[in-house]
Amino acid sequence: MTTTTPPNPKGNTTTAPATSSCPLKLATKPGASIYSSPLMLTTYDKYVLGFSMTYLWRCPSSSILIPLFRQNFNAEKHLDIGVGTGFFVGDALGQVLASSGSTSTSNHKEGKKVDITLMDLNEVALEKAKERVLGVVAEHEHHSQAEVESDGKNPEVGVKVTTIVADVLDQSVPVGVQRGQFKSVSMFNLLHCLPSVPIVPSGPSSSDHDSGADDNGQEIKNRAFKLAAECLADDGTLAGCTVLGRKYIANDSSGAGSGAGMDKPNGTKTPSVLSKGMTWAVMKWYNHLGTFGNWSDEREVFEKGLRENFEVVETQVVGCMLLFSAARPKRSA
Ligand SMILES: C[S@@+](CC[C@H](N)C(=O)[O-])C[C@H]1O[C@@H](n2cnc3c(N)ncnc32)[C@H](O)[C@@H]1O
Repeated sequence: MTTTTPPNPKGNTTTAPATSSCPLKLATKPGASIYSSPLMLTTYDKYVLGFSMTYLWRCPSSSILIPLFRQNFNAEKHLDIGVGTGFFVGDALGQVLASSGSTSTSNHKEGKKVDITLMDLNEVALEKAKERVLGVVAEHEHHSQAEVESDGKNPEVGVKVTTIVADVLDQSVPVGVQRGQFKSVSMFNLLHCLPSVPIVPSGPSSSDHDSGADDNGQEIKNRAFKLAAECLADDGTLAGCTVLGRKYIANDSSGAGSGAGMDKPNGTKTPSVLSKGMTWAVMKWYNHLGTFGNWSDEREVFEKGLRENFEVVETQVVGCMLLFSAARPKRSA
């Protein structure tokens, strides 16, 4: 375990180790290691969140993913799983700090509490995301300095950012994560990076309820929902998205939502033969490289995983993207 001294007294940062109780050897590294490359990290926001979301997966970040993340974000106790560059968490935090600074006088007196935990298999991505979160706080404090001078109140933000190196397919809650504490959990664009691996029963005494699943290997990804449910508070919300498999490349609608309450985005346009071909080739290539493991991913398998772990589940398909939110985590006895 490494505990790093916070870069400033208000940015408390710790790193807990990954633990491994998973009996299977899962090839999870390719889906995470690409996010160590400086080229990837510097182009990620524009290429992946800009170009790919709009033109390949037909689910624009600006009109669909950013609102979904913001809507489910609670800065006072948030867990982001699969952090990338920290784009979404940074954006949502910026919005919260800007609105609390300008509208709430009680927040000015007491200071806004920010407690964010970042979890990822890749330490480089964790560092990048942590930097982004602390940068957003620093920028907010710089802006609010003028207000301190004029009104004499203290707008300081109490910030805790915890980074945790962990594999979401591991079956234990990582060291350093407080169970049932998070008011919001996000899992954006993570599941399509995970490999599909048929679940093999680990022996007659196995208590793994997943054992013997008759899926094509996708079901193993539902372990991530179990982890999210264990971390989420009883009244918290999970939100996320994942690029589904090749079946959805021709999908030409925003898809019917399942469950109540998820805002319905506008429908996506019917993909042209050219765009279908481009999307197919890129998805195939990413799956070949191992950076994606979503070739056969289906909405129904993820819905099953969500329902096994949460009482309330909402899903919607936009282009190739599954949007989901879930609440009221089921607790195992
Ligand atoms: C496509 S990025 C998504 C980043 C961010 N959530 C977003 O939407 O922009 C996927 C992230 O998941 C992480 N990741 C991939 N496989 C993982 C695993 N098995 N366990 C934990 N994190 C993983 C990668 O390192 C990367 O940071």
